[in-house]
Amino acid sequence: METLLLKNNIDDIRYAAKLIKDGQVVGIPTETVYGLGADASNEEAVARIFAAKGRPADNPLIVHLSDFSDAVNYTSAIPDLAHSLAERFCPGPLTMIMPKNERIPMVTSGGLDTVGIRVPSHPVMHAVIEQSGCAIAAPSANRSGSPSPTSAEYVLRDMNGRVAAVIDGGQSEFGVESTVISFESDDAVRILRPGAITREMLLEVCGEVIIDHAILNEVAEGAKVASPGMKYKHYAPKADIIMVESRLEDFVSLVGSNYGEGVYALIFDGDETDFPYRYLTYGADSSEQAHWLFQRLRELDDMGAEKVYVRAPSAEGVGLAVYNRLIRAAGFEVIRI
Ligand code: TXA
Ligand code: MG
Repeated sequence: METLLLKNNIDDIRYAAKLIKDGQVVGIPTETVYGLGADASNEEAVARIFAAKGRPADNPLIVHLSDFSDAVNYTSAIPDLAHSLAERFCPGPLTMIMPKNERIPMVTSGGLDTVGIRVPSHPVMHAVIEQSGCAIAAPSANRSGSPSPTSAEYVLRDMNGRVAAVIDGGQSEFGVESTVISFESDDAVRILRPGAITREMLLEVCGEVIIDHAILNEVAEGAKVASPGMKYKHYAPKADIIMVESRLEDFVSLVGSNYGEGVYALIFDGDETDFPYRYLTYGADSSEQAHWLFQRLRELDDMGAEKVYVRAPSAEGVGLAVYNRLIRAAGFEVIRI
């Protein structure tokens, strides 16, 4: 099966919606990264997503709705705090985990009795949900373990022949996946995966925001985690990634003393003056770094990088999302000088 490349126009969006209604899987742009969408209530369609990605069956999918008011149709209880958060952050890059109802089959929820609900702001994803009339289950559109795709071209590289179609909606705006939260109490949430909706932003609505331990720490094999996705190897390019927390001078000497064929550096914009080794840059601030990170990891593979020394980003604000993805890409290998 050849994967169709669809355009961002109403006819193609209608066609994609029809494919989804018919139980097929379509690559769809969102404001975070591209997703692989299928009808969340159709077990066979959802099974096709898992097969296309090579995703472990116990890793649940996020369910995308065109409006938060539709969440009552797929959940069995919605905390008041979820309504307040939805008012402030939906549509946008926030996923809220709530008890599911019977319209979400166990394949979709990875066997859990909860479901992650997200209302994406991207007009193409919004239109596909509306036109299909389906709640759309969609993980990131990469093969399991690889960096999430931020363009239709990267979706095709991972998924050509594995899904019915991909809609080209240009480059993803945020570049990292949504913030995933669960509810701890009437007033408190727990961040399971950091994203563009930061802890500081959530504190505008919540009394307390807990950062889950697994965000910055390696999860021991067999350990129970709040979000199954945190226990798998993630975001990893083919190259060996090493994160380095140091001043620029020390970074330059470290790369210098390990330099050779296949060795690259991933540095900040502004570091490149006088940087004497092969490098790519990934932005000057946290938002830019979030936007570029996954694309740069894929580009480094294309360039034949075998070992990449990366200047560690700030872990503040949106930076926490960048740090969280990189430390997983690095398999928790961090050098501190
Ligand atoms: O921005 C995003 O969230 C993108 C776009 C396509 O919407 N989607 C995405 O999906 O990143 P995925 O499947 O690649 O990552 C979803 C993460 C996984 O780590 C999964 O374990 C967690 O969210 N998750 C989903 N449902 C959950 C649930 N019911 N309980 C705990 N964790 C859940
Ligand atoms: Mg993913």
